[in-house]
Amino acid sequence: MPGGGALAALPLLLLLLLLLLCERSCPSRAPPETQAVIIGEERENVTLPCSNTSSPEGPVSWYRNEPEAAFLLSSNTTLPPESRYSLVNASSLRITGLGPQDEGNYTCREVLNETLGDHLDHRIQLLVASGPNQISVKISPTGIYPNGSLFVTRGSQVTFNCSSSSHPPPVVEWYFQLPGSDPEPFGTNNENFSYFELHNMSPTLQGNYTCFATNTLSKRVRKVTSELLVYYPPWSAPQCWAETVPAGSMLRLVCRWSGGYPDPVFLWTEEPGNLILGNSSSGVEILNRSQLSDGKKFKCIGNHTVGSGMMGANCVVQINGPTLQSDPMKTCFLGGNVTLTCQVSGANPTAKISWLRNLTQPEEEILPSTRYLITHEDSVSTLTILNCSQGVDEGYYVCRAENPVRVRKVDIWLTVKKPLNIGGIVGAVVILLLLGVGTVSGFILYYSPNICLKVGSSFRGQETSDVMVLVDSQDEEEEDVEEEEEEREEEDLPKEITRHGHIHRVTALVNGDVERMGNGLQALQDDSRETQSDIFQEECDRPV
Ligand SMILES: *[C@@H]1O[C@H](CO)[C@@H](O)[C@H](O)[C@H]1NC(C)=O
Ligand SMILES: *[C@@H]1O[C@H](CO)[C@@H](O)[C@H](O)[C@H]1NC(C)=O
Ligand SMILES: *[C@@H]1O[C@H](CO)[C@@H](O)[C@H](O)[C@H]1NC(C)=O
Ligand SMILES: *[C@@H]1O[C@H](CO)[C@@H](O)[C@H](O)[C@H]1NC(C)=O
Ligand SMILES: *[C@@H]1O[C@H](CO)[C@@H](O)[C@H](O)[C@H]1NC(C)=O
Ligand SMILES: *[C@@H]1O[C@H](CO)[C@@H](O)[C@H](O)[C@H]1NC(C)=O
Ligand SMILES: *[C@@H]1O[C@H](CO)[C@@H](O)[C@H](O)[C@H]1NC(C)=O
Ligand SMILES: *[C@@H]1O[C@H](CO)[C@@H](O)[C@H](O)[C@H]1NC(C)=O
Ligand SMILES: *[C@@H]1O[C@H](CO)[C@@H](O)[C@H](O)[C@H]1NC(C)=O
Ligand SMILES: *[C@@H]1O[C@H](CO)[C@@H](O)[C@H](O)[C@H]1NC(C)=O
Ligand SMILES: *[C@@H]1O[C@H](CO)[C@@H](O)[C@H](O)[C@H]1NC(C)=O
Ligand SMILES: *[C@@H]1O[C@H](CO)[C@@H](O)[C@H](O)[C@H]1NC(C)=O
Repeated sequence: MPGGGALAALPLLLLLLLLLLCERSCPSRAPPETQAVIIGEERENVTLPCSNTSSPEGPVSWYRNEPEAAFLLSSNTTLPPESRYSLVNASSLRITGLGPQDEGNYTCREVLNETLGDHLDHRIQLLVASGPNQISVKISPTGIYPNGSLFVTRGSQVTFNCSSSSHPPPVVEWYFQLPGSDPEPFGTNNENFSYFELHNMSPTLQGNYTCFATNTLSKRVRKVTSELLVYYPPWSAPQCWAETVPAGSMLRLVCRWSGGYPDPVFLWTEEPGNLILGNSSSGVEILNRSQLSDGKKFKCIGNHTVGSGMMGANCVVQINGPTLQSDPMKTCFLGGNVTLTCQVSGANPTAKISWLRNLTQPEEEILPSTRYLITHEDSVSTLTILNCSQGVDEGYYVCRAENPVRVRKVDIWLTVKKPLNIGGIVGAVVILLLLGVGTVSGFILYYSPNICLKVGSSFRGQETSDVMVLVDSQDEEEEDVEEEEEEREEEDLPKEITRHGHIHRVTALVNGDVERMGNGLQALQDDSRETQSDIFQEECDRPV
């Protein structure tokens, strides 16, 4: 019968309801109204308040877990001094030196009326967090500096692993911070470690990498920051050269190897023997004259953090004194200009060229002026002397080339000459010729006026072919070429002696070597006399 069963169960249900109501309202059986959670950290001290709402009026007792399960202490108990438990302000439980075993539920029983047995229970949950105490960061493969900075090579693959442990497990995450910007998180992980890889490292990935491990319970944070530098070697080979230190006879060796990061360091050595001159980041070494000799070699070795393994990361400089080349003698015509040239070769570092006159000791340097023009172009230096004068300008000139390795000098002798008057010589020749012709004509006219008048008339009578037969023209080919020239010249000369041979000689004399002019003139005179007699004879042998 179901109705009877329900009726029988009614008192039981009422009792249950009463019990439930009592759970909520009956003061004697007060359940924990609130469950407070207190978080403590390992090895730290913690104080658990009995109630966060009110300070209890009566004495309190503390239990581990449920009441009666494990009595800890009450207001009237006296504890041994070594006890980790104590009562603060007569109600709060203080536990020192927390350990994981302390984690759990605690009940504070507040006694309201001892005789009635009225009490109020407060439950407090204690959580004990631990760590993270350590954090380990592994970035590889990298080089490391004594200050902890890491460096990698551009283009390499780098792995980042950060691990930590805590209770409860920490949140591990990486932050990347570029210089001058805020850190950005990445690689967040809740599993004790955070791992990721970066392929093809580039300079934009250079910066500070920070790993944070955070205890979710205690919010305790540990972090490790690693500075990661992305290095790259220079692309080209090192370059080196020697130069003269301005205002000094010292030599400077310079080595450059740019394009890499960070800047390389340089080692200068003396070849052979690899004697070390110096190690520097500037790549500059200063040497004084005593350390120099002609043909000596110096080697610069470039040392880059990630590029030193490069083959041929060095360069060699050979220093040489200058070599001079010049004409030993020069001539200048009075009132004219002359240019003395001096060529320098083989100098390393480049030589400074100067022109000197050795009229005095020490020799005096010639400075550019209205009389002297000095030019330096590539390896050639010239000194132009304007308006030569015999007394002042004739003499030795010194071309001097100097670099820190050596000084070289070369002497040039300058002669100043009076110019030869070509026009005057030509005039004299012509006058002499005319004189000769006049004399010969006089003779002919005097001794055989008839024949020679005839000769003269036949000559003028266009019988040139006959005359041409007589001509001893040794170079037939030239005739045509020089016809025009001859016609011009013929006007100035008597027609009777118009012969190709003569014209050639006169022309040669005008253009030719002046020194041989005297002899040539003599020859011409002989020649013309000879010719005249030929003409005379030919004409006289003819049947008249
Ligand atoms: C008491 O603790 C409970 C649970 O932690 C909390 O909800 C409540 O706000 C606290 N009361 C006061 C007055 O702090
Ligand atoms: C915990 O309490 C003990 C004893 O009172 C004290 O010596 C110690 O310094 C405290 N520890 C901390 C972390 O406050
Ligand atoms: C301390 O008080 C508790 C309850 O309030 C009682 O049970 C216990 O006997 C008392 N102990 C002493 C030593 O007074
Ligand atoms: C103990 O009581 C004093 C005064 O009422 C209070 O300042 C202090 O914070 C209390 N200590 C704890 C651990 O509750
Ligand atoms: C403490 O109480 C909470 C909630 O009442 C429970 O989840 C937890 O398991 C208890 N802890 C222990 C150690 O008994
Ligand atoms: C406890 O309850 C009894 C009975 O109701 C009462 O006589 C007594 O005064 C109460 N004690 C306190 C301290 O309130
Ligand atoms: C660490 O040393 C390296 C090499 O000397 C340097 O480049 C870097 O700037 C240094 N890092 C810090 C943070 O000082
Ligand atoms: C990261 O490091 C932790 C601790 O050293 C290790 O257990 C874990 O296997 C590492 N992760 C990888 C992917 O190497
Ligand atoms: C890393 O941080 C330090 C300190 O703030 C700073 O001096 C350094 O320049 C940073 N390094 C890089 C590569 O940003
Ligand atoms: C390169 O320079 C570093 C210091 O900057 C030095 O320790 C190393 O020995 C040098 N390497 C060579 C090959 O000179
Ligand atoms: C010499 O040189 C100067 C300047 O170049 C020029 O004016 C002058 O005519 C030259 N004299 C002769 C004779 O060539
Ligand atoms: C100038 O040099 C020449 C050739 O070297 C030398 O013969 C002459 O004595 C020198 N003159 C003076 C004044 O030193």
